[in-house]
Amino acid sequence: MKAKQIKARIISNQRRNGNYGHLEFESTVIAQQAQPGQFVNIKVNNTWDPLLRRPISIHGVSGSKVKIIYEIIGKGTQILSQRRPGEFLDIIGPLGHGFDCLRPDKSGQHKNIIVAGGMGVAPLVFLAEKLKLSKPLVLIGAATKKQILCLQEFKALGCAIKIATDDGSAGFKGRVTDLLNIVLGQVKPGSLFSCGPQPMLKAVARIACENKIPAQLSLEAHMACGVGACLGCEILTKTGYKSVCKDGPVFGSEELAW
Ligand SMILES: Cc1cc2nc3c(=O)[nH]c(=O)nc-3n(C[C@H](O)[C@H](O)[C@H](O)COP(=O)(O)OP(=O)(O)OC[C@H]3O[C@@H](n4cnc5c(N)ncnc54)[C@H](O)[C@@H]3O)c2cc1C
Ligand code: FES
Repeated sequence: MKAKQIKARIISNQRRNGNYGHLEFESTVIAQQAQPGQFVNIKVNNTWDPLLRRPISIHGVSGSKVKIIYEIIGKGTQILSQRRPGEFLDIIGPLGHGFDCLRPDKSGQHKNIIVAGGMGVAPLVFLAEKLKLSKPLVLIGAATKKQILCLQEFKALGCAIKIATDDGSAGFKGRVTDLLNIVLGQVKPGSLFSCGPQPMLKAVARIACENKIPAQLSLEAHMACGVGACLGCEILTKTGYKSVCKDGPVFGSEELAW
């Protein structure tokens, strides 16, 4: 399906948990086409500054509504947080190659495990919704309790959830990948799905390889065009360089050369 450039009306834009924004916009065309793991590229205001669009994952769709969540970390996301309901955003989407939801085992014999690190949780709620018949187990990792996002959304989908925090303020004390290793001592999953910081994804890829479990990883990269034209987001795979925006952001862990 082809991505579209649209002017989308903002339905709501709320600040939550301090530094996070939850924004809903209206777009039948994006809502109908979006797959978990795909993203939209947003022009956050109507001027040339900032020049580049900001890539943000599709967090969910409902009817003609599309939901995103974002962390306010710099100029672009700060401006985005100030946009009001009723205003219009210039958006291109849905972009990229999302998770392959047909690959996981749906027999119920093998659980699918979703591993989320920090803001990487954003596309994984949409994925959990698509996989909910297989009752995925969700491992959420964050630095501290206050930074655990989307817990209620995963609960509402009937997912089993385990938490890891670096400081031990909630759940397992340590890295979410250490928790994954413990869980794999008890459960043999059909597939792993993950999104988060690159060191975490590298660890998930290594664990998947050691345990011979297929894994799909959603990568982040600094992007400009978002459509594979500028070569600004290339990564090395076993079959040469590929663009994260067009060939990804989701890759099979076995494809990546790291
Ligand atoms: C495919 C994809 C999906 C994404 N989905 C989400 C999402 O759902 N929610 C969300 O909050 N963020 C998401 N991001 C990251 C988001 O695009 C950046 O946080 C955002 O562009 C920062 O813009 P800014 O102007 O606020 O910050 P800037 O001023 O541009 O940067 C502030 C700081 O963040 C770092 N940074 C900027 N962009 C990235 C990036 N792409 N990856 C890592 N570090 C970066 C910069 O190096 C700098 O240190 C996604 C990125 C990609 C590539
Ligand atoms: S951002 Fe231009 S090729 Fe990916």
